[in-house]
Amino acid sequence: MNILLVGNGGREHALAWKIKQSTPQAKLFSAGTNAGILSLADYVQLDENNFTEIAKFCTTQKIDLVVVGPEAPLSRGLVNELKKESIPAFGPTKEAARIESSKSFAKEFMIRHNIPTASFASFDSSQETKAMEYISTLNPPIVVKADGLAAGKGVVICNSHDEARSTVKSMFSGIFKEAGKKVVIEEYLEGDEASILALTDGSDYIILPTAQDHKRIFDNDQGKNTGGMGSYAPTPLISNDLIAEIEASIIRPAIKGMADEGCPFAGCLYAGLMIHQNKPKVVEFNCRFGDPETQAVLPLLQGDFSSLLYSIAEGKLNKSYYAGYENKFACCVILASKGYPDSYEKGFEITGIENAENSGCIVFHSGTKKLNGKIVTDGGRVLGVVGISHSLEASIAKAYEGAKLINFQNKYYRTDIGKKGLRYIK
Ligand code: AMP
Ligand code: GLY
Repeated sequence: MNILLVGNGGREHALAWKIKQSTPQAKLFSAGTNAGILSLADYVQLDENNFTEIAKFCTTQKIDLVVVGPEAPLSRGLVNELKKESIPAFGPTKEAARIESSKSFAKEFMIRHNIPTASFASFDSSQETKAMEYISTLNPPIVVKADGLAAGKGVVICNSHDEARSTVKSMFSGIFKEAGKKVVIEEYLEGDEASILALTDGSDYIILPTAQDHKRIFDNDQGKNTGGMGSYAPTPLISNDLIAEIEASIIRPAIKGMADEGCPFAGCLYAGLMIHQNKPKVVEFNCRFGDPETQAVLPLLQGDFSSLLYSIAEGKLNKSYYAGYENKFACCVILASKGYPDSYEKGFEITGIENAENSGCIVFHSGTKKLNGKIVTDGGRVLGVVGISHSLEASIAKAYEGAKLINFQNKYYRTDIGKKGLRYIK
């Protein structure tokens, strides 16, 4: 099987690793520079923004499957383009990807299908006065979200009416370009977050082990939001009863709703939830695997992952390729560059990856590249160190043991990944 993997981060390295684990004979191609992905895939020079070029490559190289990691190419229609050429691709069409690429679409969709979420209103830049009036009716904190994709920076939790008003004004005046010309203003939800990943062909689905991300940069969830500083799976926050409720009130109606509206969602549907008093509400839907949730979830899966993705790309989920997951826990600690999520330096040599691997960890590369035979830092999030064990506590200890064996200048990581999970264990 020839597979083209689109995307260049930790999530994609985990996808490449799992694909190779389940089908070692598969030939992988990547247009990225990530040193982890390129240890498993052949480099191809392709402009990932040029969908015609990608489709042409797939046809001439006889690519059997394209796996698309990030939301940007999905929301711009890469899968639509590949479908036109009958190239099997894992990921939703542009229309289905709106569940992530337009927050107002996602919110209105949830209302139409009775999916629990925070109360909200949306406004475009011609409705500034109305937006200001709506803000006055809410009690802070007030959540202001740019409607479109804003590289994880489009959500601001405002602690006062004034802050909410000025945030809306700055979005309307273009800080996120077109993505902020429409905003969603919503109620602040208290609680604990969880990430649910469902693999679906648009009607049937499989729910993967539950996970929890750690979005803030500093310990105890302090500081700025990031892409995610660590994750673990499964999370004891979600009991068997709760997952049944999430399935019935969120996952099933979302998949059915997209199909009923004429844009079936095929790929990985990610529901970001807030759990308060054991009740789930949707904070956001994403149209792809989570990063860094994927790095913790995939190592636990049993079965033939490549064939599972292929069956979805072909239009019919074949559940026989999914054999559930190991009765273990995985914890992923992100090693980042000091300064992230703001500015940071890169190009520092990384040492000790092998030592971490020899200690039993899996090391997924996020922002790395090879330079003169050495692996160097090349992003804000650099590596994800995954420890796997029979208890959550032991998986955390193992991940941190590995994290300490890796060195590079300006290495920064949170020291409390997974700790929230221990709190949920009764
Ligand atoms: P999003 O990009 O929509 O996932 O938002 C980023 C992060 O902002 C989420 O992971 C939450 O931590 C936080 N957030 C978003 N919406 C809300 C909300 N309504 N209430 C509380 N926190 C929120
Ligand atoms: N970990 C959050 C995300 O992938 O959006």
